[in-house]
Amino acid sequence: MVYPVELIEEVRLRNDIVEVVSSYVKLERKGRRYFGLCPFHSEKTPSFSVEPVKQLFYCFGCNKGGSVIQFIMGIENLDFPEALRMLADRAGITLPEPDDNEEREKARIRREILEINREAARFFFSVLAGRDGLEAQAYLKKRGLTEKTIRQFGLGLSPSGWSELTDRLKAKGIPESLLLSSGLSVRARGGELVDRFRGRIMFPIFDIRGNIVGFGGRVIDQSQPKYMNSPDTPVYNKSRELYGLNYARQSKSRKLLIVEGYMDVISLHQAGIDYAVASLGTALTQMQAWILKKYSEEVIIGYDSDSAGQAATMRGLEILEKTGCNVKVLVIPDGKDPDEYIRNNGPEKFKNLVDRAISLLDYKIRVNNNMHNMDTVDDKLKLLNGIADILAGLDNSIERELYIKDYAAKYGISTESLTSEVEKRRKKQQSVSAGTALVRRPVGLGGKIQLPVRMDPRYGELEYMLLVMLCNDNSLLGMVLDRYGPDGFRDQGAKLVAEKLFGKLADNKSCVLAELLTDLEPDIASCMVRIAETKCNAENIEKAAGQVLDKLELLKLEELQQQTIERIKNEKDGLLRQQLGLEFSKRAERIAELKRLS
Ligand code: UTP
Ligand code: MN
Repeated sequence: MVYPVELIEEVRLRNDIVEVVSSYVKLERKGRRYFGLCPFHSEKTPSFSVEPVKQLFYCFGCNKGGSVIQFIMGIENLDFPEALRMLADRAGITLPEPDDNEEREKARIRREILEINREAARFFFSVLAGRDGLEAQAYLKKRGLTEKTIRQFGLGLSPSGWSELTDRLKAKGIPESLLLSSGLSVRARGGELVDRFRGRIMFPIFDIRGNIVGFGGRVIDQSQPKYMNSPDTPVYNKSRELYGLNYARQSKSRKLLIVEGYMDVISLHQAGIDYAVASLGTALTQMQAWILKKYSEEVIIGYDSDSAGQAATMRGLEILEKTGCNVKVLVIPDGKDPDEYIRNNGPEKFKNLVDRAISLLDYKIRVNNNMHNMDTVDDKLKLLNGIADILAGLDNSIERELYIKDYAAKYGISTESLTSEVEKRRKKQQSVSAGTALVRRPVGLGGKIQLPVRMDPRYGELEYMLLVMLCNDNSLLGMVLDRYGPDGFRDQGAKLVAEKLFGKLADNKSCVLAELLTDLEPDIASCMVRIAETKCNAENIEKAAGQVLDKLELLKLEELQQQTIERIKNEKDGLLRQQLGLEFSKRAERIAELKRLS
């Protein structure tokens, strides 16, 4: 899909980068820039900056940068057309329907699957309400769900026959291929289509817009598997969805409570804890962490306190912490899940637990504590060591001191000995990190190392500098064209960008850096912003551009000299050799002059 450049530019201009970034990152104004904690790598002091005048962002820590479009691509994990569409929606601009056939076809399939899902949910709901639904209704009632809750979450029942839903949808003219890609039907061994979900209580999974993107189905008896879920389909990706978020994001509370299962979310909402969501049995993903961060100020993990739940809590905590969420842990006594706890103890007791959710640090120490009973000196020593390890990870010295006092008192250790253990560890950490500082690379999303764009080692940086300067001052065009036209570019990436920039400027239009970046690959955009921020801050742009052009000329001349020497060596014809020699000395003069200037 190719949109007109004017339209793309309008989308960019109508989305102020400070406003857009602010809905993901807390920004603070410092001079002409805004600073905040970088959402693309983990850090404790802000090195992520936004420049309102230039409409660019740049992280001095991980070197990621670009316009508002690359920001959205990175943070929402979208490709260019998707990011453009999201920003267009935000600004109330209507983009033309994709004209690309393939895209249009995909969009059509998505729409149809959503329609099929809605139809299926209606059917499941009616089966639950009907004569065949009595047992399931009794089951839900036994588990304490009210009529209203059942309706709110659109619960239903899949019939126990082989293919009732499939037949019904087929009768409505829905082709087999769509039934298969919706995940509602599967092909049986005999070749015919049958229902995926049979005789199960059905939980529709809503996305934030309220579309039904998939289903979970629970057995009513003890049979296995307890739950079946929709597979990933063109509308459903289990690592992206959070069950209940369509309601939770409307909650007045700025918290989100993340729990494990469908039933937990439903019970919690019924009990008035309307900010609960579930990660649906899978380990919390980075994608889900981003979404949690986007919709809340505080995330509370409320996984089961059995050992599997505890491991999941630890992993979840790590992801959430890395994503920059403010996290707490809900401790539910006796290995219960939230649903059971509420049923046994009522909503008020549960709300008390939420208020008493503990910090990340307390949770780590508690887990460490559970591993050792305090009977022997040896156990006590292990506990002390574990606590010291955890406290040594705190960067704030006041915080460290307060916790040391606290824990020393709690576990009957002297403050002095705990302090000295913690400081010993910090010294060790510091010497380790000092040793690695030189080779440390910024870590991007999902812990992936963000490699810089592969650049021509000699020309790349200078060529990008030239392009940035030309964006900063379009009146340099004549001078640049005279000395270094687009054909002369050596670095492949820079050459593509140069063609684009010269094209835009030749149409007699201006072009600022953010505009040029708009549809560039995120890596190249980052690279250009890095160069803009770190190499192109000269007061006198014209002079600086002249110096870059000199350096580029020098590189090319030296290359030519090298070639000329080779040719002279191999040239048999004396006259030609003489001519080459003349060229060589002329160039040598220019080289000397350029070196004098630099
Ligand atoms: P639980 O076993 O804790 O189920 O699994 P639950 O939600 O508490 O359900 P009840 O209370 O027994 O009725 C937590 C989540 O893990 C996924 C489901 O999303 C479930 O809600 N799960 C569990 C599966 O996908 N398949 C299974 O077989 C079991
Ligand atoms: Mn349960």
